[in-house]
Amino acid sequence: MFVMAAGLGTRMKSDTAKVLHKVAGRTLIGWVVTAARAAGAERVVAILGHQSDAVRTSLDAQFGAGSVDRGGLPPAGSGAEGRRGWIDIAIQSEQRGTGHAVQCALPAVAKEADDRIVVILTGDAPLLPTEKIAELVAACAASPAGMALLSTVPDRPMPYGRLVRDPDGRLAKIVEHADATPAQRLLPDTNAGFYAIRLGHLRKDLATLRADNAKGELYLTDLVAHAHTRGGATAIDAAFRDVTGVNDRVDLAEVETAARRRINEHWMRAGVTMIDPASTYIDADVGPLGKDVWLAAGVTLRGKTKIADATRIDTGCVITDVQIAETAYIKPYSILTESTIGARAQIGPFSHCRPASRIDEDVHLGNFVETKKTHMMAGAKANHLAYLGDASVGHKANIGAGTITCNYDGVGKYQTTIEAGAFIGSDSQLVAPVTIGRDAYVGAGSTITKDVPRGSLALTRNKQVNVEGWADRFREAQAKRKKE
Ligand code: UD1
Ligand code: MG
Repeated sequence: MFVMAAGLGTRMKSDTAKVLHKVAGRTLIGWVVTAARAAGAERVVAILGHQSDAVRTSLDAQFGAGSVDRGGLPPAGSGAEGRRGWIDIAIQSEQRGTGHAVQCALPAVAKEADDRIVVILTGDAPLLPTEKIAELVAACAASPAGMALLSTVPDRPMPYGRLVRDPDGRLAKIVEHADATPAQRLLPDTNAGFYAIRLGHLRKDLATLRADNAKGELYLTDLVAHAHTRGGATAIDAAFRDVTGVNDRVDLAEVETAARRRINEHWMRAGVTMIDPASTYIDADVGPLGKDVWLAAGVTLRGKTKIADATRIDTGCVITDVQIAETAYIKPYSILTESTIGARAQIGPFSHCRPASRIDEDVHLGNFVETKKTHMMAGAKANHLAYLGDASVGHKANIGAGTITCNYDGVGKYQTTIEAGAFIGSDSQLVAPVTIGRDAYVGAGSTITKDVPRGSLALTRNKQVNVEGWADRFREAQAKRKKE
């Protein structure tokens, strides 16, 4: 399958190539390649031009290092095509139109036979359902003209190519929006930008394309007129919402909304409760979400987040690349990133787990507690106002309000170890590197700079002094001075 993705996307008015813009957290080209893969494509040729290095990197990031071939074609018959190097890159260094883009991809299939069917997908239409690709291939296989394409009736005016039929109703040609007469612009059926065609026809017809049109480009869509000489390409209807091509940011937002609705419906059908699907934002690569997961309004799940059965995520949480075990409760307005949360843990409200927080089962993190690179072991608690960075907190240890691990001296980061059962009194600073031994106590308000042995009490604050009657005498003196 070919994916055309070389254009800058001038109408996006962006420094980022169009196909790298994201819908539900996944790049436009990532969506299209995912659909191609799901439809069984053993090889994908991505036709790149603008920012090809960045597109390559993003494909590697999504599909795994090595998925993008760097050294030419994968060894034929090696069986490796399905895993490593199954995405080939064809470079179209100058964007001379979609027909030219496909010309640039032909060397990648030079060894394939003429009767092979090639699927050509437009890289800017992310929501194409996998079944539509199968339908295209089947229609092409059955078509004497050896070509099929998807047509759609847009629900708002779109600058798409119009399908022109002959008096017998066969597909005669596609007229691009820029070249269309006012009468042709009224034609209801438009070209969605997805094709299946026999390689022999593709090779022959592409060679005849000319740029004698409004845009001065080689139009892939001119192949349809060639197919007419063989009896006409087959057009298959597709719902507009499934094939919308993104040309500007308005399209991008519409596609985002449609993608989000599709993702949310998928998870609700899989057993997830959403209080308000319209304000629930779940990225395309999130999942699985378990049975009886409960999501309140305004929840955002990003990246590769996974949530096990019966876990509740309350209002306003933003959760990115986090694995959460079953029956945990993430209370309102917590922010969790690149971390793991154990079963029955209770986090929030207003907790912040920064990257590499490992929160085990039955842990409680409360209001305004921040963790980073910290392992909270089973049953440990930090219920209020704490910063725990580069720390390991043992089983059932208790961290008092206002505790701070001083992990940074302006140059390096240092480790704090709090062993099982230890109790850290409120408003203590633990100056790392430091270890608080098993079951030890740290008195409230202490600044701990030396290791605390197991089972002991550490106190660093000054002894309390009570001066009896001082306040009464002070007030009397003040009152006297005022009278004078
Ligand atoms: C194209 C179709 C149009 C169809 C519409 C549907 C042509 C001539 N027109 O128009 O009939 O209704 O899609 O969305 O094909 N690209 C390249 N190299 C190029 C030019 C484009 O790789 O030289 C890529 C772009 O990156 C993009 C895709 O092809 O992913 C489509 O290009 P775009 O310029 O958006 O074409 P449309 O004007 O939308
Ligand atoms: Mg387009």
